[in-house]
Amino acid sequence: MNYNLDEIRRMFPALSIQDNGRRRIYFDNPAGTQVSNQVVEAMRDCLIESNANILGGFETSNRADRVLSEARRAMADFLNASSSEEIIFGQNMTTLTLHLSRSIGRQLSSGDEIILSRMDHDANISPWLLLAEDLNLEIKWLPFNTETFEFDLNELDTLITNRTKLICVGGASNLLGTINNIKAISQKAGNMGILTYIDAVQLAPHVAIDVQDIGCDFLVCSAYKFFGPHQGILWGKKEVMHLLKPYKVRPATEELPSCFETGTQSHEGIAGITASVDYFAWIGDKYAKEYVDKNQHKNQQTQVIHAALNYLFEYESTLTDCLIEGLQTINHLKIQGITEKEALQRRLPTVAFTIKGKKSPDIAAALARENIFVWSGHSYALEVIKTLDLYDTGGVVRIGPVHYNSSKEIEDFIKTLEKVLGSI
Ligand SMILES: Cc1ncc(COP(=O)(O)O)c(C=O)c1O
Repeated sequence: MNYNLDEIRRMFPALSIQDNGRRRIYFDNPAGTQVSNQVVEAMRDCLIESNANILGGFETSNRADRVLSEARRAMADFLNASSSEEIIFGQNMTTLTLHLSRSIGRQLSSGDEIILSRMDHDANISPWLLLAEDLNLEIKWLPFNTETFEFDLNELDTLITNRTKLICVGGASNLLGTINNIKAISQKAGNMGILTYIDAVQLAPHVAIDVQDIGCDFLVCSAYKFFGPHQGILWGKKEVMHLLKPYKVRPATEELPSCFETGTQSHEGIAGITASVDYFAWIGDKYAKEYVDKNQHKNQQTQVIHAALNYLFEYESTLTDCLIEGLQTINHLKIQGITEKEALQRRLPTVAFTIKGKKSPDIAAALARENIFVWSGHSYALEVIKTLDLYDTGGVVRIGPVHYNSSKEIEDFIKTLEKVLGSI
């Protein structure tokens, strides 16, 4: 495919930084991505030109109002939400989830059931375990298959009862890289009057998300995973959000969506969200025209943003392929995730592995000495690591390329990995 990686990399100032003349390889992206110049400028401009609290009626405050409304519009376009009133900002996905779980809890009573998944990040598990403890709810677990690294959705059927009120599941695993069929899960749940809470933190940087098509009730993501600043975003279906009673202070508005936003927001962070969505629109406009057709039923801005994500996913799949092939040449290495070429559409470029006889933290530390940035351990996917029985042995090494990485970086990484394995 025609992919102008040099131009894309030039948008991200951090990518050209060297340390004592050594290049950096950023493969820590599932834990946080680098930001484009546009994001830095938007945050800077906000702090200089719109630095006031909202709803004051004077110039800087009016500008702050606009920062928020533009970001809501941008996120509604990004997620194909039917209204920007469905977009709620917060510190991060974890805080938003802990917060909203309090309001959802007000609809539940003792003995009601929540289904959680063994594949999820703890941010979509602990808030619900805590709620269950407070309200005497029952938790049921959807397992994943340790050979296919996917759910068997027939198992979901066996977990659902007439007390099931909520299903919480990830759009994609931050550790295994598996992309889950959240549309099938949400539709199954919706048909039975069960709410769905989707953690799309790892899906959002890679896959075009259409909340209306998925049919879920809540979906959360974090801008710092999709080339923006440290900000969380919650989408909630308006009809459902209207039924919830927000946990809020008395003077704060009763109106959606602000009634779910506690205290003063990080306006500069929110300005950065708009710029990170604009970055996708820029790619869509410039490079991904032929992908717009696939998205014609969406509004014009969403078409362009989703075209960009479809285009970038195609490029990223070439990186995934290259990474898996390279890793498979290393002795005693096991990829903890989908490896079949024909199934690459069902996984992210995030690839986890273990090597027999080596400790994952030692491998990550050796790579850090070579200025290759990766994570090891459980990455808060505690249930995944426990299911794979890797908790006591230090978890996995996680490599997470994104669209600004190159196949050359992957080749360098594989060569370096071979080299360092001899010395640890
Ligand atoms: C899948 C997933 N969910 C939730 C989170 C938590 O996100 P936040 O840091 O925005 O709370 C992460 C962070 O890595 C994640 O990967």
